[in-house]
Amino acid sequence: MKGSTLAASGSPGIAGKIHGAWSSRMGFLIAAVGSAVGLGNIWKFPYMVGQSGGAAFVAVYLVCIALIGLPIIVAEWLLGRRGQKNPINTMADLARKNNRSKAWVTIGISGTLAAFLILSFYSVIGGWALSYLADAAGGTFNGMDKDAAGALFNGMLASPATLVAWHTVFMVLTVGVVAMGVSSGIERASKLLMPALGVLLVIMVGYGVTTGGFGAAAEYLFKPDWSKLNSTVVLAALGHAFFTLSLGMGVMMAYGSYLGQDVNLLQAARTVAIADTVIALGAGLAIFPIVFANGLDPAAGPGLVFVTLPLAFGSISGGMILGVMFFALLIFAALTSSISLLAPVVEFVEERTPLSRVASTVVAGIAIWALGIAALLSFNVWSDVSILGNNIFDLLDKLTSKFLLPLTGLGAIVFVAWCLDRESVRKELGLGETGTMIWNLVSRFVAPIGVLIVFISSL
Ligand code: PFF
Repeated sequence: MKGSTLAASGSPGIAGKIHGAWSSRMGFLIAAVGSAVGLGNIWKFPYMVGQSGGAAFVAVYLVCIALIGLPIIVAEWLLGRRGQKNPINTMADLARKNNRSKAWVTIGISGTLAAFLILSFYSVIGGWALSYLADAAGGTFNGMDKDAAGALFNGMLASPATLVAWHTVFMVLTVGVVAMGVSSGIERASKLLMPALGVLLVIMVGYGVTTGGFGAAAEYLFKPDWSKLNSTVVLAALGHAFFTLSLGMGVMMAYGSYLGQDVNLLQAARTVAIADTVIALGAGLAIFPIVFANGLDPAAGPGLVFVTLPLAFGSISGGMILGVMFFALLIFAALTSSISLLAPVVEFVEERTPLSRVASTVVAGIAIWALGIAALLSFNVWSDVSILGNNIFDLLDKLTSKFLLPLTGLGAIVFVAWCLDRESVRKELGLGETGTMIWNLVSRFVAPIGVLIVFISSL
């Protein structure tokens, strides 16, 4: 398989350009896992577990991945592969070909818009990780006490110049990779960064085993306290299942559009979901042993990775090396996700304008970078600016996670399950009799209803 071009010839966009393609099935899988594994796994999942009841949250999350995440990821790839264009053109084409309302293009628009908005603040957090890598390497954590760790984080947030600088570096890296194209940019970067991430994670978990906090960490992650389960926890778990699999943002649609017919979408979805979950749990097993062994608070929230961990790194022997490894890992995870977020936006600009790949990437990157500046100013000079009761950073986060993501994901699964010819979908997914029954049940009812419940209750 290796080396062959998967998406046969691709389809020419408006300006007569050829759409990109993965060079191999493996390349596609690594890039898709790279997109899924990101800040959501290493930064957000552990702190959400900490805040939402440990293993009870993990259990609900796994169910959400299986019943809602898997069908939607398959639906998004299937749409992308059939359309072979950016998500907006893909949905317009598919609606027309299947005699459906033009309004279905809304899914493409909301997905692409979500990618645009999310990348603006994702890059800001990616910038925090870069800043902390520099701090770790420079020995800033050495001997820090609790107050100093808090002050380091707050000091970074209070400094627009620091935030802008690192956000800019992160965006430049993202733009650089995407500008190089699908197989020689996105795919190559993922093939380099993901194995590196895997190695770093294994080393960190290995260190965790030696700390004496490993047992407590494992218990925390895997022994459920069901009394902590409530509707908020369930909603958080479902929301996170969406985010962590990169659903509802046109990203998986774009990745599907570079795909040829010979990839089994169900198998690929299973691989991505398993890898994503293993890495999220691995991140928990890397982080919590350090937290427990040093008597720190596992429920520290978003500051778990940026305040609690550096505090530990500053006090343990070999902490400097661990700190560098950890923040490098975080950056690798973030980069392979940020490049995937830029992909649908760039595809759109490239296929709708006469601009070249490089120019399209730079234009999209600058627009997202500028919005990111507005987001990061929320932490300092614009902290008083409030739109609908939120600062700009929170507004972007809420607008996307509460509206655009569920809307796009719901639309994708409903379109595939209810609007496409069912026999052709069955064949494309290679389903037998039982498989068809399960697929129909899950894709037509369970997944859409699950998303609807979350959508409505989050309003
Ligand atoms: N899945 C990524 C994470 O867990 O960090 C984040 C992400 C990437 C979300 C790409 C959405 C997306 F389209």
